[in-house]
Amino acid sequence: MAPVSIRFRGSSFGSAVPNLQNRSDSSFEVIFRQFWLFITLVGTGIGVMAAKFSKCMMLCCVRKISKVEDMESYEEAIAKLSQLLSMRCDLEGVAAEKIKNLTAELEAADPEKFDPVEKIRAGFTHFKTQKYDVNPDLYGRLARGQSPKFLVFACSDSRVCPSHILNFQPGEAFVVRNIASMVPPYDKKKYSGVGAAIEYAVLHLKVENIIVIGHSCCGGIKGLMSIPEDGTTSSDFIEQWVQICDPAKNKVKTECDALTFDEQCKNCEKEAVNVSLGNLLTYPFVRESVANKKMALKGAHYDFVDGHFELWDLDFKIVPALSL
Ligand SMILES: *[C@@H]1O[C@H](CO)[C@@H](O)[C@H](O)[C@H]1NC(C)=O
Ligand SMILES: *[C@@H]1O[C@H](CO)[C@@H](O)[C@H](O)[C@H]1NC(C)=O
Repeated sequence: MAPVSIRFRGSSFGSAVPNLQNRSDSSFEVIFRQFWLFITLVGTGIGVMAAKFSKCMMLCCVRKISKVEDMESYEEAIAKLSQLLSMRCDLEGVAAEKIKNLTAELEAADPEKFDPVEKIRAGFTHFKTQKYDVNPDLYGRLARGQSPKFLVFACSDSRVCPSHILNFQPGEAFVVRNIASMVPPYDKKKYSGVGAAIEYAVLHLKVENIIVIGHSCCGGIKGLMSIPEDGTTSSDFIEQWVQICDPAKNKVKTECDALTFDEQCKNCEKEAVNVSLGNLLTYPFVRESVANKKMALKGAHYDFVDGHFELWDLDFKIVPALSL
């Protein structure tokens, strides 16, 4: 069987790109679907070979991460993906037939199958015609630069996009989204991604407000609250990341001992925001800006179950070590 080659051919949208209408074929979609199907197959363990294969993949991954310094380049990663896709072609007999059957089943079961490229095309077309094209002043100004008043920390959760819930328009908020909307303490090596965003927002954009927004039913907070006493973790990244807010967890565990787990989590969602506000003050440029009253820090909690939004100011009493 011929090995599968990986080709990425994206789609572009918008008037500046003439090939929108005459995209001839959709090899990207086809490959994307094949890849997606493959992932589904491995994930659900259909077929003996696929199951064995996935186990092997997991083992490889586990072995891989045990060596922290052993980072692979993207060339290596692409080569490995190629190899995986070729192997999928080599699944003989039964497994291959199952894949074929599964494809047919998927297509028959859902004629209106979700089409990611179409979703993106429709989304951008809507934005372009309803917003971009009708607000030339705004987008003309934004083309020349940005001066947002807010740096917003929000969770990656698909339900809490700050531009939606707070109606931020383009240019109004510089946004960092991550698991559980956490601000790690100043650390050039470990958290440089977050540090760079804060540095850029504070020193270059000169935002006047930093707001950290927690939210209801936060999986990251639940994960943090679920880490056992002995600290054993099973994820590659998630648990280590959310442990940034360990102080919040500890406070809730001692002060809200009598509450149910869910209630404790809810408390921790807000407590974690306060820990993040405290962590913001470990960045010298944030501290200075706050001390000079050029910038304010705010905490918030969005509850999408009952549709509430709570906002509070940083009370310096929460960081008594810093006498500002
Ligand atoms: C695939 O579908 C055919 C026809 O429906 C069926 O006879 C066959 O057993 C299926 N093969 C597998 C491996 O499920
Ligand atoms: C977070 O900090 C604010 C301001 O200091 C305080 O009013 C609030 O009680 C704190 N929230 C929690 C859950 O500790």
